Order: sequence, then structure tokens, then C-alpha cells
Amino acid sequence: MTPDVIVTADPAFAEAALAEIAAVNGRVLHTLAPGIWAIQLPGDFFALAEQWRQQPPIFVRHICPVQTVLPLAEGVEKVVATAVTFFTHLLEPDWPFSVQTRVLGDLPIKPFDVNQPLGNQLATASGAPLDVRRPFQILSVVLAGEAAYLGLSLATNNLSDWAGGVRRFAREPEQVSRAEFKLLEALEVFAIDLPPRGRALDLGAAPGGWTRVLRQKEQYVTAVDPAWLHPSLQKDKGVRHLRLTAEEYLEQDPDTYDVIVNDMRLDARDSARLMGEYGRYLYPHGLALITLKLPEKNYQSALDHALNILRQSYTIAGARQLFHNRSEVTVYLKRKVDS
Ligand SMILES: C[S@@+](CC[C@H](N)C(=O)[O-])C[C@H]1O[C@@H](n2cnc3c(N)ncnc32)[C@H](O)[C@@H]1O
Repeated sequence: MTPDVIVTADPAFAEAALAEIAAVNGRVLHTLAPGIWAIQLPGDFFALAEQWRQQPPIFVRHICPVQTVLPLAEGVEKVVATAVTFFTHLLEPDWPFSVQTRVLGDLPIKPFDVNQPLGNQLATASGAPLDVRRPFQILSVVLAGEAAYLGLSLATNNLSDWAGGVRRFAREPEQVSRAEFKLLEALEVFAIDLPPRGRALDLGAAPGGWTRVLRQKEQYVTAVDPAWLHPSLQKDKGVRHLRLTAEEYLEQDPDTYDVIVNDMRLDARDSARLMGEYGRYLYPHGLALITLKLPEKNYQSALDHALNILRQSYTIAGARQLFHNRSEVTVYLKRKVDS
């Protein structure tokens, strides 16, 4: 039986991702690797893609269609040749495309072995420009066991523009913490444009990765954390560091902000409660981001509880388990419009 879609999630949150698949009546045909499943759908891939584009799941990170399954036994060259014939006329010639190959398990093949020949041959045969950075259309190739699963979709169909949702950023020499990637990914995934020269509050800021990213985006940052910030930020005049806990700052009549971010290492529900109290210090046009740290066990109920707490003060504009999140979910908040 041919699957309709390959679904990918963090293996640590497999149970929650499978519940999201079950909620759209998807049926697991095979587990291809931890957190990666071949799924049969009641409708077609594009119906699911549209449903999830409008209302994205939290834990499923990436989906890609399966339009043909080819045997790997005859070698990669044969897969490439057959795929060129199959997909040349399905590609829209005016739109940039890329080939995204994932190799699961320990097959003696590298993604490059498929991406390069298939991309070049399809570009020649279809006339569509190859653009791996900003593709409109993506040919997804998943090699697993004895089969190659291939499907063509628009980048906007796949929940992430990156193969399997693996979004990597280049490391910069001035980088303060790995946490920076989390904020960069959240801004991208939720398509957030920060207000020009906005006032931002960074709760749980140390050592200052998020503060550095916010500064790069021209925000004036109040960084709240009892721990020290990186020396490069201590001398930045656009950063005000308050060596306080978020609870202590609340008692000091905080300013009002355009942006509030919260990456505090706290239980999800406690952090959500504190964030709720900060809601009144966000301008009506403001936006907020919070990472909810989840326990290993019963993470779904902790998440539901934390989201319910946040809903009392905010509208939830998005919630996703991002590639750079570890045991956490990132939530995008807007101020609740008072009725
Ligand atoms: C994961 S780190 C934040 C990393 C930061 N976003 C970065 O990019 O460098 C979590 C921080 O939360 C801070 N924290 C924990 N509880 C806090 C509280 N109640 N108030 C303020 N900061 C808190 C810790 O001191 C720690 O520096």
C-alpha cells in the first residue's frame, strides 16, 4: 500500500505527534525511523497540507507527499532516472525548485548523491530554476530500507521549508549561546517582523543570546536575569540589564514594551503564570514569545495547562515544537483584545 505522506517529529514527542496524525484520521503504515512515519490519509496530501497550513500542528514538524515509491535495489542512478521521467512534467517551469533528500538508517548513500544529479537533470529537462535556498517547489526524497519515497509539493505545503524541518543556521563568531538559534527559528516560523526600534523585554536573558539577536534586529532591550550577561552585551548602550528575577521586576512597576520574550528555565506552568502577569506591560500592538519547558512524563497535560493559563491574558498566535527546541515548545502570543 502506498503512503500519502511522510510525517516527521522529534522522537521525544512521538506520542503527541501520532495523536495529531490520528486527529486527521491518518493511519501509520510504517515507522521509517524514530519520529518518521509513512502515513495513509483519508483524503490526499494537499487537503491535509491546507488544513495544517491554516492551523499548524504543534508537534508534527514536517510533512512531504508521496507520489511514487521506487525500489532502491537497482541503485540510486535508476531512482534518479525514473524520478526525472516522473517529475519533469509535474514541475512548474517558472518557479524555483529544490530536491531535498533524506537518508534514514544506515544506507550507504548520502543526500548529495541524489540531490545533485536529480536537481541538475530536472532543471535541464523541465527548465525550472534550481534554487536550494528559496525554492517554491520541493521534490522530497526519503530513502528508507529498500524504498525511495518521492513527492512534489510547494514549500508552503510542508510545514517547514527545510528537509524534515531541520533548520540550521550558520554559527557566528560573536554568538553568545546556542539558544540564539531558537529565537531565529521562531521569528522565521511565525513570520514575525519586529517593530522598528522597538522596546523589548527579555525575561531569563542570561547569558544573552536572545538579547544579542534582538539587538541585531534594532530593539532596545531590557534584559532581566539574576545571572550575568556576556561581556559584549554589558557594554552595549542599547541593553539595560536588571539583575533581578522576573518576579522581582514585576514588583518594581515595569515599563511597557512592544515585545516580550521569555526563555526562563522554569516549569511551563509557572512560566506561563508569570508571563500572564506581564501581559499588562505589553502594548496592545505588541507581541510575545515564550518557550514552555516540558517535563519528560505527562508533557501533553503540562502543555495544555500552560496554554490555558496563557489564554487568560493573550491570544495564542502559534505554538510549535521547533527544531532548536529541546524539551520545549515555543509559543507566539499577541495581546488579547479586551471584549
Ligand atoms: C535557557 S537560559 C536563557 C538563555 C537565553 N535565552 C540566551 O539566549 O542566552 C534560562 C535563564 O533563565 C533564568 N531564570 C530562571 N528563572 C528565572 C526567573 N524567575 N527570573 C529571571 N530569570 C530566570 C536563568 O538564570 C537562566 O539564565
